[in-house]
Amino acid sequence: MGKQGVNVGIIGFGTVGTGTARILLENAGVIAKRAGFPVVLKKIADRDITRDRGIPVPEGILTAHADDVLNDPDIDIVVELVGGIHPAKDFILQAIANGKHVVTANKALLATEGADIFAAADQKGVEVCFEAAVAGGIPIIKVLREGLIANNMVSIFGIINGTSNYILTKMTAEKAEFADVLKEAQALGYAEADPTFDIEGIDTAHKLTILASLAYGIPLSFDAVYKEGITKITSEDIAFATELGYKIKLLAITRAVDGQVELRVHPTMVPNDYLISKIDGVFNAIYVEGDAVGATLYYGRGAGDMPTGSAVVADIVDTARTILHGGKRSSGISGSGSAYTIRQMGDVESMYYFRFSALDQPGTLSKISGILGKYNISIASVIQKGRSASSSVPLVVLTHTAKEKDVANAIAEIDAMPVVADKTLVLRVEGKE
Ligand code: HSE
Repeated sequence: MGKQGVNVGIIGFGTVGTGTARILLENAGVIAKRAGFPVVLKKIADRDITRDRGIPVPEGILTAHADDVLNDPDIDIVVELVGGIHPAKDFILQAIANGKHVVTANKALLATEGADIFAAADQKGVEVCFEAAVAGGIPIIKVLREGLIANNMVSIFGIINGTSNYILTKMTAEKAEFADVLKEAQALGYAEADPTFDIEGIDTAHKLTILASLAYGIPLSFDAVYKEGITKITSEDIAFATELGYKIKLLAITRAVDGQVELRVHPTMVPNDYLISKIDGVFNAIYVEGDAVGATLYYGRGAGDMPTGSAVVADIVDTARTILHGGKRSSGISGSGSAYTIRQMGDVESMYYFRFSALDQPGTLSKISGILGKYNISIASVIQKGRSASSSVPLVVLTHTAKEKDVANAIAEIDAMPVVADKTLVLRVEGKE
């Protein structure tokens, strides 16, 4: 008679480790009923095994040594929830070398060093699952790998960092400034250990790297992602966006254009009538368009112990099915062979919002519009607010579709003009022309 169930070992008993353990223990009955076999939490390793996590941990399963999980011959699946690059990568490679399947929530590791990990797993014939690495509880990896397998992907637009969405939502609702809201987000525990990852678009880029690889078969290409965070957005920009009928959202965007794939993370003005503009607070949402299915949208909690634990446990059960019933699944992450190349950011086309800090003098607008015209950037509308003989006033311009490299050249030239007092704030704008 073959195996009747699977044994799981967790490394990392922090927020997500605790959520995962809680679900495995409290929902063991429903999981076993649905899966048709028991999933047993055999060990949990963490450097700190004394702190009370608020869950009843069965006697004898806690250990301070990761090796007790990695080298336990009875453990079938190692769940890496340590985060960061090292020692997380070493734990995963050791688990693979020991013939164990791996479940991880480690987006930074997979986005930057995933090629080594998937190569090692393929060689050893084990699975590395990562549903929890992108958008927490939303099963977006399963969507791309299984649910939408029939489609050529047209585009993906995601709000996949709860912290920056929380900050932008609060700035919009309360007309608050960035720095004040960031402090609040940190106090509430939403931000990553290093908040730079959240607010500079790095965490979003890690997740986009994984989504784009699944969607377009390109290698994990974190370095090629254009990354721009939300730190430069002011309450004034939010007020202009509101007046113009937009929300500002930090979007992860990947889309296919002429055999190339765009990979970009930046704050974006999204029209109020787009569903994704209504995703507020710490929630995540991902819009996925496929050539067969058309537009689809996924919404939920992208962080936190229980939502992320929900995704980790789903991976554990899927992997357990592989162990018990055979049929190893492909990771969906391939190192080569994609039909697509990556589009240089300079070649990307978009509509734009410019907020110039211009001196309120005759001829200023014509000088600015002259430079925009020279670079083939067509103006859609202009707003000027305020009046000042001595200092600068905000001059807002919305454009028709233009090319990124033309915009960069035009703005560099405009910012060098004596009538322009400060660096121009540039935002990309989504919507119909
Ligand atoms: N810091 C991340 C966020 C956590 O704010 O979404 C989940 O990856």
